Amino acid sequence: MGVISRGRSVLFVVLILAMASSTYASLAVDFYKERCPFAESIVRATVQMAVAVNPGLAAGLIRMQFHDCFVRGCDASVLLDSTPWSKAEKESPANKPSLRGFEVIYAAKAALEARCPSTVSCADIIAFAARDSALLAGGIHYSVPAGRRDGRVSLESEVLGNIPLPNFTVTDLLSSFAKKRLSLDDMVTLSGAHSIGRSHCPSFAGRLYNFSPSQPQDPSMDPALAAYLKSQCSPATVNINSTDPTTVHLDGVTPKRLDNQYYKNLLTHRGVLFSDQTLQASPLTAGTVSCNAENGPAWAAKFAAAMVKMASIDVLTGSHGEIRKQCWVVNR
Ligand code: HEM
Ligand SMILES: *[C@@H]1O[C@H](CO)[C@@H](O)[C@H](O)[C@H]1NC(C)=O
Ligand SMILES: *[C@@H]1O[C@H](CO)[C@@H](O)[C@H](O)[C@H]1NC(C)=O
Repeated sequence: MGVISRGRSVLFVVLILAMASSTYASLAVDFYKERCPFAESIVRATVQMAVAVNPGLAAGLIRMQFHDCFVRGCDASVLLDSTPWSKAEKESPANKPSLRGFEVIYAAKAALEARCPSTVSCADIIAFAARDSALLAGGIHYSVPAGRRDGRVSLESEVLGNIPLPNFTVTDLLSSFAKKRLSLDDMVTLSGAHSIGRSHCPSFAGRLYNFSPSQPQDPSMDPALAAYLKSQCSPATVNINSTDPTTVHLDGVTPKRLDNQYYKNLLTHRGVLFSDQTLQASPLTAGTVSCNAENGPAWAAKFAAAMVKMASIDVLTGSHGEIRKQCWVVNR
């Protein structure tokens, strides 16, 4: 018994040392420079082509990084398909049917496998594609440290506890981001991604028809916006199980431009999601909202830095994880 436990604790110490050395092995800019020189340009070309055909994919790819990194870290778990034994993250109502851009990542991966097999992780492709999307949609440029490896686990059951919901208050949002070591400023800054893209009705219809027993309509929403959204979304879409495919722009003023218009909309009560408008309503975050509304370039610089920070959450590096051959399935 004593021998076994001593053996176990030695093994345990070795494991801890091994984990520490690779957990702290950091990501590096130009990680693929020697390993696969054209890696980043291949991803960029793939994203450019896809976004030229469908500009909405830029929004989808930026959101993809968020939904990947908040669940099990940035390990491309969001890309895995379900198996006969377990449902994957993809199946969660937070991802299905709204998360988009999967085929862009898969196409980039296919091109990369042809050039440098088993070299570039799907997790890095997600981070590169989000960066390229920010450049295309907002002229926001930044370098992405790389060297992530891909995970082997994806569970539907882990999504809802990690991805914040659109009915969250500021306190809920702050604790959700704090769990990922992201600050209040990171949270408000990254929410600016809602300056592009779209939402399905069930994500906000409660604000239009079922806000509270005394007030069916959320008083923090501009009545003209509420009237417009009601014209798009029927009362039936209050049910979160509604499969109504209707979508609306998250930023009705400059829906395709990644800019600080989102914060200006919050000042005029034109945030679509409750979780957006609450940033302006709460004294904790209202000042940051105003600063971002006033200074577009300062917000853009903070956004770039926060995207890099988000892309480093709980990454697998060194000998952890694997380099998937196909992004939707773990290696055999
Ligand atoms: C602060 C907490 C957040 C909440 C509660 C939230 C919630 C949502 C919801 C409900 C939608 C619409 C889904 C639908 O009904 O179709 C959405 C869309 C989107 N979100 Fe967030 N989000 C948050 C933060 C973020 C962050 C940090 C990013 C990325 C930096 C992001 C990027 C996007 C983008 C780009 C879209 C549009 C997607 C598309 O058009 O395909 N969101 N978000
Ligand atoms: C948010 O909505 C979910 C269902 O989508 C519900 O379970 C939860 O209680 C709601 N939270 C708040 C703060 O209203
Ligand atoms: C939504 O669907 C789930 C699973 O089918 C069910 O348990 C739940 O009661 C439904 N919710 C509403 C509000 O209809």
